[in-house]
Amino acid sequence: MAHINLGVFVSGGGTNLQAIIDASEADKIDATVVLVISDKEDAYGLERARQHDISAVHVPVGRNESPEYAAADQWHVQLLAEYDVDLVCLAGYMRLIGPEVMTTYAEAILNIHPALLPSFPGTHGQDDAADYGVKVAGCTVHFAWSEFDTGPIIIQAAVPVLPDDDGDSLAARILAQEHKIYPQAIQWYAQDRLHIQDRRVIVDNAPPPTILEAIISPGLEI
Ligand code: GRF
Repeated sequence: MAHINLGVFVSGGGTNLQAIIDASEADKIDATVVLVISDKEDAYGLERARQHDISAVHVPVGRNESPEYAAADQWHVQLLAEYDVDLVCLAGYMRLIGPEVMTTYAEAILNIHPALLPSFPGTHGQDDAADYGVKVAGCTVHFAWSEFDTGPIIIQAAVPVLPDDDGDSLAARILAQEHKIYPQAIQWYAQDRLHIQDRRVIVDNAPPPTILEAIISPGLEI
């Protein structure tokens, strides 16, 4: 695939969206954000898009399985077609993508989750990891399936959990890694290097793992 068009769905602040826009504008990825969609009218992600002259559309979604939800699903598909979107990126989008979009963009929807899936799915991954007491946490970019936080995993990054961490401090450490791995996953997709085999994603010519931090937690004394 050559240069691809991205449609990004956000519900909140959009720092992952910003990381993708920045990578695109710096020519680090062969991809351009052409459309940003949010279920929340006041999502700052929409404002970020406008600041970069990217079309930003508020699409109210209503309750799951309501007529408004089905209409939003249709509207999403129309918008994605209108903007010639190749790849859908869910970046802090807090609603389930509808069946029409899932079908139209089968194997062309990515999601980022702030935990090392399959641990800690759901909307409070960082708090759940901190509360559970894990020593290593992280984030995951994966192909989206119709259920939340499932789908084949493309890349993960790990960070240590420090003794004084709470959900917020852990979330900030994880978010810094999210901003690195989401553009990378998009670039592999744009280069047509991702192949799904059952649950596994094969990355053509994958570089060896980068050790972001050598984690031995809580630390060895012998
Ligand atoms: C990120 O932690 C993402 O993994 C999760 O929601 C958060 C969105 O952050 N799904 P932002 O809107 O990209 O700043």
